[in-house]
Amino acid sequence: MSQKPPLSWTFRRIVWNSVSLLIFRFKKAKHIPLPPQYPRPLKLIPVSERIPGVQVDHVMMADRIPKGESSLIMRASFTFRIWLGQVLPPVVPGLPQIDADMDKAMRRACNRHYRALYPAPRRPEAFRVGGMPDLGEMAVASPYACFLEKDGEGNLVWDFRDLDDHEVHPGLRPLGSRVFFKVNKRARKLEATRIECVLGEFRAGEDRWDEAVRTAMCAASTQISLVNHFNGVHLACGGPLSVATRNHLYSDHALCRLMWPHMFGTQNSNYLVTKGQMLPMGDFETIFSFTHEGMCDLFSRSYKGYRASVMVPGLDWERRGLPVDQFDTPVQDNLSQLYEVMHAHTTRYINIYYDSDQALQRDETVQAWIAALNKMIPNGVDDVTGGEVTRESVARLCAGFIYMASVQHEALGSCMWNYQMWVDKNPVRIHTNGQRIPIDVFQRLLNANFNLNVDRAKLMQDFSYFAIDGAGASAFKQFDMELRALERELDGKAYAAWRITPKMLEANINA
Ligand SMILES: [Fe+2]
Repeated sequence: MSQKPPLSWTFRRIVWNSVSLLIFRFKKAKHIPLPPQYPRPLKLIPVSERIPGVQVDHVMMADRIPKGESSLIMRASFTFRIWLGQVLPPVVPGLPQIDADMDKAMRRACNRHYRALYPAPRRPEAFRVGGMPDLGEMAVASPYACFLEKDGEGNLVWDFRDLDDHEVHPGLRPLGSRVFFKVNKRARKLEATRIECVLGEFRAGEDRWDEAVRTAMCAASTQISLVNHFNGVHLACGGPLSVATRNHLYSDHALCRLMWPHMFGTQNSNYLVTKGQMLPMGDFETIFSFTHEGMCDLFSRSYKGYRASVMVPGLDWERRGLPVDQFDTPVQDNLSQLYEVMHAHTTRYINIYYDSDQALQRDETVQAWIAALNKMIPNGVDDVTGGEVTRESVARLCAGFIYMASVQHEALGSCMWNYQMWVDKNPVRIHTNGQRIPIDVFQRLLNANFNLNVDRAKLMQDFSYFAIDGAGASAFKQFDMELRALERELDGKAYAAWRITPKMLEANINA
């Protein structure tokens, strides 16, 4: 490091790191309680009304935290952190950049106190090469596999051009970009052939190709955290699922019991985390490239574009127009395998309580729940149900919700610990003057990602206490057994940073 950090930074770092470490050490997974008998209905209101200071009018959030979810300790901890952020901001202008030796920078930020609590970020194989990572590999074997799609002209692309519509901080590179891929059928892989970005248009191997790759990697990292994880999973889907379930499925209804472990705590956590991340000077605006206004615009725009089909890997693949069996798709295969266990569970469970599609259609509680989901989730859930209520369509939807709350939340959130921290290969912001990111931004990025890995209720546990009868209890137990069987199967495979196995999964998106 060329410049010595000032003493005031050392003090700030000690305070903020201690807060992070204390939360991690003392945060323990909660037991998920049964649904309450007579919940008071929740309303969805704009975030700007619920949290003054977050000027996002088109994103909706519950009007309050329901009784039973609210945790005094968690509220006090967030309130303290927000207050501390005002009196002792964790990020201030003018601090030196991180060390040029990335391993040294990582050891300094993720010191032994962090490592004693959680394994330090591990470089994905694709980040071990000299130069920038192979985007062809990233498009099928990384969390960024979710961005691959076929465009109107039949090209396979990552399309981040919309990111240019939102204001970035002065001195940072705009992220609007597009990567074109071609299929190498013989090698069964994808190759990135062309990138368009603010620097111009580049073909693979040309001068400054690596710089264009850096732009695309930064766009991918930004999009996954802000759009897919927080706006998509938490706000567009998780929040409405929880409101619709509380409002429309009475506590002893079989579907309420099926969904409850995967949505409990959402309003508490969405409210507090939105405050911590989206208020002025919160995590999002100080870590990523967008100004507060730019970030708010991005949330408004991308919320409207949410598609429920992302909750079902096969449907999602189809909707993105992707070809079948032309190249290897390790991430897609991994996601589909996890989804199938969830789908088998919801199919078995629904078949216990409904002996025909007509019986399910006659259940006005289910009809009201689906109507509410269609109203509250941007663009509704017809993408998943096909617009009809059958045992199969409802099983697909319920499996999608379990998959969203566990697998998607992991793939787009906690899994980023091993990707997003390697800012030499995967920057969170790019300074146009060529400097690396400042030490305080890097530390905040680390603390934010570290926090995603706190101890939370695991998916692999016996949820049979949610059952309304013996048959339901057996279905919950069977789900747990099948997750364990898949865990044993995947455990035998070589390590890959992108691979998700059942033991990594949490039951829901909440802290
Ligand atoms: Fe999350």
